[in-house]
Amino acid sequence: MDSIIVSGGTPLNGDIPIAGAKNAALALMPATLLSGAPLTLTNVPRLSDIKTMTALLESLGVEVTSMQGGKVQVLSSHAMTSTRADYEIVRKMRASNLVLGPLLARHHEAIVSLPGGCAIGARPMDIHIDALELMGAQIELRDGYLHAVAPGGLKGARVPLRFASVGATENVAMAATLAKGTTVIENAAREPEIVDLVRCLRAMGAQIEGEGTSTIEIQGVEALGAATHPVVTDRIELGTYMLAPVFCGGEVTCLGGTLDLVTSFVEKLDAAGVDVSESDRGLTVKLRGDRPRAVDVVTEPFPGFPTDLQAQMMAMLCLADGTSKLEERIFENRFMHAPELVRMGANIEVQGGQATVHGVARLKGAPVMATDLRASVSLILAGLAAEGETRVNRVYHLDRGYEHVEDKLSAVGARIERVQER
Ligand code: EPZ
Repeated sequence: MDSIIVSGGTPLNGDIPIAGAKNAALALMPATLLSGAPLTLTNVPRLSDIKTMTALLESLGVEVTSMQGGKVQVLSSHAMTSTRADYEIVRKMRASNLVLGPLLARHHEAIVSLPGGCAIGARPMDIHIDALELMGAQIELRDGYLHAVAPGGLKGARVPLRFASVGATENVAMAATLAKGTTVIENAAREPEIVDLVRCLRAMGAQIEGEGTSTIEIQGVEALGAATHPVVTDRIELGTYMLAPVFCGGEVTCLGGTLDLVTSFVEKLDAAGVDVSESDRGLTVKLRGDRPRAVDVVTEPFPGFPTDLQAQMMAMLCLADGTSKLEERIFENRFMHAPELVRMGANIEVQGGQATVHGVARLKGAPVMATDLRASVSLILAGLAAEGETRVNRVYHLDRGYEHVEDKLSAVGARIERVQER
């Protein structure tokens, strides 16, 4: 397993290109299952999760042609061979469950392994199941798999979600495009990745409105057709790299970034004393003064503060002048980066879903362990500030969601390298 070694203290200056959104691409790719016509995706990020989704779709018989080093994908499901998403693939990536809605919609059946828990929480699928059952699906759990059928196809329905689940909103929106009649999703998730998926479905011929609001309305159609769609910019990669100069000084422009993707995050940065300016090139970030100020953070569904930026924000607040309180409301176990940051000299107390961070003047490099995707990158960021060397192990977590993190950071002056473990 590879490790990444960061030597702290070097100011960063220059441009960091931001890739297409992992969490948009992982919903857009399964949309190919809704039509036998080709779906072309551009600005696809080069990540291991995309490779996992590709393998899953190919196991169902989808043809996936990658071009331009993986930035362009042409997907075609005109010759499907299976409707079974196998545990061996699904256990590696929860987003595999996004084949459930499209398979049910067009093939009227699906056998999808439950993803099982992951580091950040149990991650059940009750909201997906309840919603699809309201649309006429019959779903039962047998030997760890969801066995779902929709004899005669799905029917439009009013679908209230008990929680604005991103994945459930995506599964239902895709399923509803081919259902008979009208579906209204209430308390729908409003994330930019949902907006991106709906725009792609509309390009394929779906009758769908309301993306970005809590109510999405879909009129089912007979069939969907071909489309070409650019994957939206990754707001989580964007927010991650916006923080980098706050840890070690300098000024960085995140190319392609736009304020509308990170509004609540930028409000917190402003309160912490970080300057963010928008231009047609992207978002330029620089710390005012020599230390960020403490701020309180509560994670919420979009447009609230994103849970996927909580670990990165905590790392920054470890160096703030003052005490900050973070409340994680989306996942039940998403503070595993805290003990690793404490190994670097941070002063953090965790009680359940609350963390109190007492800012310290400096962090010290140490060997630390990555546990999940966003925790991993928060340790890299902390390493940019820490005195001496920080060695982040198990960086396969990182490669799931960040393209060549060491290349993007070293290009703006960071002393960072990847070492292959023998
Ligand atoms: C998506 O996961 C993202 N993944 C996550 O990003 C992100 O953290 C999350 O949305 C919240 O924004 C992708 O888009 C591939 P949810 P998803 O359904 O859809 C509970 C990353 O780092 N819940 O909105 O799985 C669930 O347990 C990843 O890129 C149920 O209880 O998130 C969680 O506590 C991590 N029952 C909360 O809702 C359900 O049926 C949010 O889940 C579904 C969800």
